[in-house]
Amino acid sequence: MVRSLFLPCFTNISRSHLLPNVNDTTFLYRDQSDRAALYCEDVSLDELASQYGTPLYVYSKAQILSNFRTFSETIKRTGSRNYVSYAIKANSNFEILKLLAAEGAGASVVSGGELRSALKAGFDPAKITFDGPGKTDEEIQLALQSNIVAIDVESLQELHVINDLAKAAGLKAGICIRVNPHIDAKSHPYISTGLLENKFGIAIDDAAEVFRIARSLENISIVGLHSHIGSQITELSPFIEAAESIVEFVTKLRVDDSITLQHINFGGGQAIDYHHVVSHPLLDGAETFAEPVPSFQQIADSIFPILSKTGCSINFEPGRAIVANSGALLTKVLYTKSNGDKHFVIVDAGMSDLIRPSLYHAYHEIVPLTITANRGKRTADIEGPICETGDFLAHDRLMPVVDRGEKLAVLSTGAYGYVLASNYNMRPRAAEILVSGSSHRIIRQRERLEDIIG
Ligand code: LLP
Repeated sequence: MVRSLFLPCFTNISRSHLLPNVNDTTFLYRDQSDRAALYCEDVSLDELASQYGTPLYVYSKAQILSNFRTFSETIKRTGSRNYVSYAIKANSNFEILKLLAAEGAGASVVSGGELRSALKAGFDPAKITFDGPGKTDEEIQLALQSNIVAIDVESLQELHVINDLAKAAGLKAGICIRVNPHIDAKSHPYISTGLLENKFGIAIDDAAEVFRIARSLENISIVGLHSHIGSQITELSPFIEAAESIVEFVTKLRVDDSITLQHINFGGGQAIDYHHVVSHPLLDGAETFAEPVPSFQQIADSIFPILSKTGCSINFEPGRAIVANSGALLTKVLYTKSNGDKHFVIVDAGMSDLIRPSLYHAYHEIVPLTITANRGKRTADIEGPICETGDFLAHDRLMPVVDRGEKLAVLSTGAYGYVLASNYNMRPRAAEILVSGSSHRIIRQRERLEDIIG
């Protein structure tokens, strides 16, 4: 009888016709006799959680590759010199880096550690760029020795430091100057980078002077311009505004100063849809409303006709849109309780595993790994085990009633999940698993207490 509540096997009431970014092949409920179980590709998440324990990060190899290929095929159609880089900060697991390096991705790195990992994973130095407002001398020296295509310069002082270090090493540094166009990305303030009040880049009104100085420095070779206005940008208009102001700037630089740039690094920032990830009739009623976000095709169609007026080669450096929807964080319910009218579900993953809800009030869909019929729904706070009120995964979330011992998936956690994990409360960090078809393997061991006790 229960069976009749389920659609045939592999049911996922896809909303993908509305949402171009949702790839509905990765996390799917498969109907079983009296229940539905969540799978990543062909692997049962419940089995993974039982085998490896929780909290556990799980990634789909097929989803990562499909995301990257969508980017690279779209960008290839815009011109043979244009390419996509991967912003490694989103997920720097070495196995994932190797996958993307083998696909021919460029890499955007922001530390010596990321640079070393990128090189070791096989990214081509001719497609590696190094961003960040606070590079140390040692990091700049490493970038120079590694012969990467460009260090993205974020201040006049940094430009002089790079020139001095290049001179001392007898090298010439390829640079892009990061321009801050003062454009509102309309994202969370903590992940908006393109306003003058943000620490990033050089104000667009001052940037021509910095290019002129760069031209005069012996050990600097100007490659182009870099700009990145923010992350999780859900509208097209900030991208278009940024492109228009860059083109105006690049044109003026050529006409007024005879400085002709060869390259524009347009940054990353494409949003993903965190709200419509999996669905099943038994989950209906959960709040999943959100506006569709632009696809990369839509961004490219809006931006390239503008940027290509410069004659520059162009690269994008997305992070989130390549890995976020490939990942889920599996967690186990430890306790349920009510304080007055308020219901709490306390789980074994907290802000030390996934800080996005605490830090940005970010929404992640949270679903049981197994759903059964005849189960009510209830609005509850999903809270971590950490002794801090700010430690939560979701507030006031309507979802099926769950009980101690049940396992849940926190979805779309492939980007800015594990990389932001910490040992707060002396909790060892989770393991990471890569799924491919019906196989799976550990790509990072769970930390042991011995690793973190002095
Ligand atoms: N390029 C630069 C210079 C960046 O700073 C970033 C991200 C990216 C590219 C990649 O942006 P994406 O395509 O992933 O939006 N922890 C935050 C996100 C911080 C993004 C920092 N910069 C979060 O969890 O939402």
